[in-house]
Amino acid sequence: MRDLAALPKAHLHLHLEGAMRPSTLAELADRHGIAVPPVTGFGSFAVFVGTYTAACQVLRREDDLRRLVREVVEDAVLAGAVWVEPSLGPANHRDRLGADHDVVAVVLEEGRRAARERGVGFGLMIAAARDRGVAEAVAAARLAADFADAGVVSFGLDADEAAFPPEPFGPAFDLAAQAGLICAPHAGEFAGPASVRAAIEVLHARRVLHGVRAVEDPDLLREVAERGVCFDVCLTSNVKLGVVPTLEQHPLPALLAAGVPCSLGADDPLLFGASLLDEYDHARTTLGLDDAQLAEIARVSLRSGGAPSALRERALAGVDGWLTTPRAG
Ligand code: ADE
Ligand code: ZN
Repeated sequence: MRDLAALPKAHLHLHLEGAMRPSTLAELADRHGIAVPPVTGFGSFAVFVGTYTAACQVLRREDDLRRLVREVVEDAVLAGAVWVEPSLGPANHRDRLGADHDVVAVVLEEGRRAARERGVGFGLMIAAARDRGVAEAVAAARLAADFADAGVVSFGLDADEAAFPPEPFGPAFDLAAQAGLICAPHAGEFAGPASVRAAIEVLHARRVLHGVRAVEDPDLLREVAERGVCFDVCLTSNVKLGVVPTLEQHPLPALLAAGVPCSLGADDPLLFGASLLDEYDHARTTLGLDDAQLAEIARVSLRSGGAPSALRERALAGVDGWLTTPRAG
């Protein structure tokens, strides 16, 4: 079996705060005298958000944030990522870490430094939260645009799409698209095909985070495949949040069969307990994808993120090399 860690890939669907190591969560909680938020199962998205928000509370000082960013890069590299593009919701940190602009600047500085030291690349997605409203989303898009030449490469939209549909967020994504950012909202997770369609048509999505419920509409799948919109799929997250009943029933193979370009991501490894490498392994072991399919997923991830072309081309050559090495064992 070929070593999945040796397959060059990009990690595109990864929430920075949700990627904290459990040991770091425990240490920072202890240092700051905060109870460690228990990470349990999630009966609802609201419970998940409560845990996520509690984890954010342990980031009290700039140093805590720098440590988080550094470790997220290190963990991505361990999984074979050569491009790391986590998303940050700056509004999560206003009360403890200061102005959004300053938080973004720290994350970019530390992320780029950590990546450079490890010979990989780092780009940042700034994400708005649906429940904070349209005006906040527009402000987040302006912030993202301000950093478009300084390492922010994409603009996202998180939280519950069933309660907050895509259409009203159009003006924020207009701004992001005009700034040359990759528009990458969550859709097709807690709402069906209409949400994915609106993400593409109204929010200019070049990537859809999750997107999996598009499988309910074959016409939409055809359109997504034709347009080459990438779905950043997170297998374990979908099971843990009840989007699909079991890993075995995940629609990733159907999406691939329909020609939809898919990447794999871990979403929130702190909360779902699966690393990027685990996700590739599940795709191989549980869903039966062969190495050619896994290599194609890695290629899609490298092409769909904000990686500079030299890094991308080198990594794509590495994918070809991985596929042509004989399988060991
Ligand atoms: N924020 C963090 N993880 C998320 C998910 N899976 N869906 C929507 N928003 C999120
Ligand atoms: Zn996500």
